[in-house]
Order: sequence, then structure tokens, then C-alpha cells
Amino acid sequence: MYLPHGGSYIMALDSGTTSVRAIIVDEYDCIVAQASRAISTTYPQPGWVEQDPMEILASQIAVMMEVQFKSGIHSDSIAAIGITNQRETTVVWDRDSGQPIYNAIGWQCRRTAPIADALVHEGMDQTIREKTGLKPDAYFSGTKVKWILDNVSGAREAAAAGQLMFGTIDTWLIYNLTGGMVYATDYTNASRTMLFNIHTLEWDDELLEALDIPRSMLPEVRWSSGDFGRVSSEIMTHTPPITGVAGDQQASFFGHCCFEPGQTKNTYGTGCFMLMNTGDEVVHSKNGLLSTIGIAENGKISYALEGSIFHAGSTIQWLRDKLGIIADAGETAAIARSLSSNNGCYLVPAFSGLGAPWWDPDSRGLICGLTAGSDRATLVRAACESMAYQTYDVLRSMEADAGRKLSGLSVDGAASRNEFIMQFQADLLGIPITQSESIETTALGAAYLAGLAVGYWEDRDELVQNRNLGKCFEPAGNPVELARVLSGWHDAVARSRTVLQ
Ligand code: G3P
Repeated sequence: MYLPHGGSYIMALDSGTTSVRAIIVDEYDCIVAQASRAISTTYPQPGWVEQDPMEILASQIAVMMEVQFKSGIHSDSIAAIGITNQRETTVVWDRDSGQPIYNAIGWQCRRTAPIADALVHEGMDQTIREKTGLKPDAYFSGTKVKWILDNVSGAREAAAAGQLMFGTIDTWLIYNLTGGMVYATDYTNASRTMLFNIHTLEWDDELLEALDIPRSMLPEVRWSSGDFGRVSSEIMTHTPPITGVAGDQQASFFGHCCFEPGQTKNTYGTGCFMLMNTGDEVVHSKNGLLSTIGIAENGKISYALEGSIFHAGSTIQWLRDKLGIIADAGETAAIARSLSSNNGCYLVPAFSGLGAPWWDPDSRGLICGLTAGSDRATLVRAACESMAYQTYDVLRSMEADAGRKLSGLSVDGAASRNEFIMQFQADLLGIPITQSESIETTALGAAYLAGLAVGYWEDRDELVQNRNLGKCFEPAGNPVELARVLSGWHDAVARSRTVLQ
């Protein structure tokens, strides 16, 4: 049997919005084994999104066990573990019992929109933008922490007494996997809280005060590639070290090796997230994008411009789970292709308002352009196209902010395997779209961060050399037809922003 690095491997944990995964990877980026489990989400009120932190933890540990069992690779052969996670989702737990005091509030949850609005009314808008690179919005963790403190009985007093801990999902997992030994996050996850100053690399007192959040409930912030403790022996006998941590979009950014300014990736997951490397410069967007910490590795920060689209793959799930018009996402490419045109039908998936570049919490989902001839294929095609249109809007904003034209785009995520969407995307953008060979670019990025810290890979050059690309889609659209559909899409977006609620 071929044994890389004397029989050692890297394990990566990817705790996503709809599923948690564990992969084992070798030094040539080959995924030796993987395991995944779906996790549940509840919607207690319109616009509210919650998950059970205990279910996330138990499912994550279960897939860690399963992937070892499947591969026959046990903890004595795991050189290091990387963790990547859905970002912004917020957990608050009790320091003594370790029990969450409320469900995790999901990143898509809109319940804290009034808190974000209040910050704007208090004149904090510019300060937040300058310090955090973000805009005041319910998306980010800070408003969610405040909501928990304000609404869970006894939480404010407990927080004031230093009894509570806040964490994004990375911190929640690290804390529990290390048996409570390490309470930490990394710079990329911290940059999504709206509490972190991305210039000074510190939690910001002014922002904490504005949201009335005590500093004692915040984790230590560390580099993405470095020491995050060891997995406890109750979970893995040989206690491998956790040495890589990054938010999922930053992990896939690293997995795509977007190390140089201008390099850009787009991940088609639950939402769609495009990041462009802006080097050591924080570019403040004038076109509805965010500035964020893109890479925090080897003592160096690279900033990124980010376009966050809230609903992408979740739109296809909606067709499957709520409308019941498809059985499996894998069917959608063929169904969409069965039509030669969208026939003027558009679906704007503003299920929880619109993210970048519109940032309109009040817009609502909309289907328009139906005729008596519209059918299942019409809706499936409109849903598939919506991902490409949203990506188009974000990419054009990014080019305007960065003052440069993109010559190509690297993509990953489940919908990047949908060849209808990818071809349509290339046509719309007029640039080649290149898939990652592996659909698990996010987990690979976390593995890279973990592996670099323990010398499993020597440096970034080795990662670039190993990188495996997938299929490339060259643009081939008819300009007149593309102008027609883009104009129809923008008209539909405008209508979604005036839907009566
Ligand atoms: O910001 C939210 C993002 O991190 C969620 O990612 O992959 O679960 O859609 P994903």
C-alpha cells in the first residue's frame, strides 16, 4: 500500500449550513475518504433561522468517526486536523456547564434587522464600515449575540458576571473537541462578527459597547494556520492537533490558491460567495460588497472583497423540498436544458431579503413572466439561471471596486457541477469559468492550513503545484439574447424590492 508522508494524513472538518463533513486527504490533495451528515434547520418565525449546536457537534464527531472507520486510517496516522465552518452563525454557552443557552442563530436569520437599523440611526454606519469592512446588517454575529443577551432570561446578568461564552461554529467545535481546553477563533471568522477591527486585528471596544457585549465572552483570536490545541482523548485516542481554522469561504479561497491580488473564486453552496484577493489593502466597496480578511497565514494578512449572495443552492433545495417539482438537484441541468430559452420567466430568490450587491432586507422572493405554457422546466431553468445572474451582479460590482477586469473565475461548490449553470455563467460573464477538480475545495483549504502548520506541505508553492483543476467553460453566448435576459433579470430584481408584505 502507498503511504504518503510515512503513512500520515490530514483530516479536515467542514461544518456547513446544511451538512457537516469530514475528509481525509493525502499530500497530493487526494481525498482518501469522506463522510457527511445532513443537519437540521428550524424556522421558528418568518425570517428566523436556528440550528441545534449539540446536533452540529454530535454530527461532526460522528463523521470524524465514520471517515476513520471507512478508510481504516486512525488517529495515530492523522498528522493534523483543519476546521472550516459556516460563518457568522452564533452560539452562546455557559462557561460551567458547556450547555448552549439558546439555539444557534443562523447566518441567514433576519430577526436582528432592527438592531442593525438602530446602529445606523445611532450614526454607527461609517464607523462599522471603516473598522470591520462590513455594513451594519443582521447577517453578522454581533447583532445575534446582542439579541440572545437581550431575550434569553438571565443572559445579561450571566454575561456581566463573566459566565457566558460566545463563539461562531469554529469556536464551538474547537472548544468541545479539545475538552474545553481551547477557547479561540481565527482572524477570518472574527472578521465576520462585526465586532472585530480588521486593521488592528483586535476586538473593538467601541463596537462592543454599541452592542452592549462584554469582552469577557469573546474568544482569543489566532492565525488560521497554527496551534488550536489537541482533540481530546475521549474523542480520538491519539489526540491529533488542530492546526488549521478558517471560515468556509476563506477556506475555499485558500483551497483555490487565490494567493495573489486579483485572484478570485466563487463558491456555489447554500448561498454563493465570491472573494477577490486585494492584497494588503482593505478596499472599501462603493458597489455593495464587503471587505473582509481573506487569508491569515504565515504571519501575513491578505484582505478580500466579498460578494455574499444569500440564496443559491438553497433555491434548488426549495424546488425539491417545498415545491416538490424535482427529486434531486442532479436532475436540474437536464431539465433546464430541455428548454431553448427562459421564455421570459425569472425567479428572484430573495427568501430572506437580498444580499450583495443590493442589501435589501425587505425584498421578497418573486417569480415573474409566467404564461399558460410555463411548466416545471420553466421554474427549474429560472432557478438555475438565478445563481448565474446574481453572480454576474456581484462580479461586475467587484470589477468596479477593484478597478480591474477579471480574465477568469475559479469555482467550486455543489452547483459548480451543474454544467447548464456553468456554461450560462461563462456566457453571461464573457470569461472562462474553471471548476476545481474536487468539489471539496473548502475542506481542502482547511486541510492546507492545518498541513502547512505542521510541515506536511512545505509552503504555498507546493500547494499551487499540486492543485488539480476540473473542466473549463468558455463563453459562447449570443450577445443580443444575453442583453435581453439580463435586462429581464434586473427588471425582476426591481420588482422583488417592492413586493408587498
Ligand atoms: O457566510 C455564510 C457562509 O459561510 C455559509 O456557507 O457553504 O454553508 O453556504 P455555506
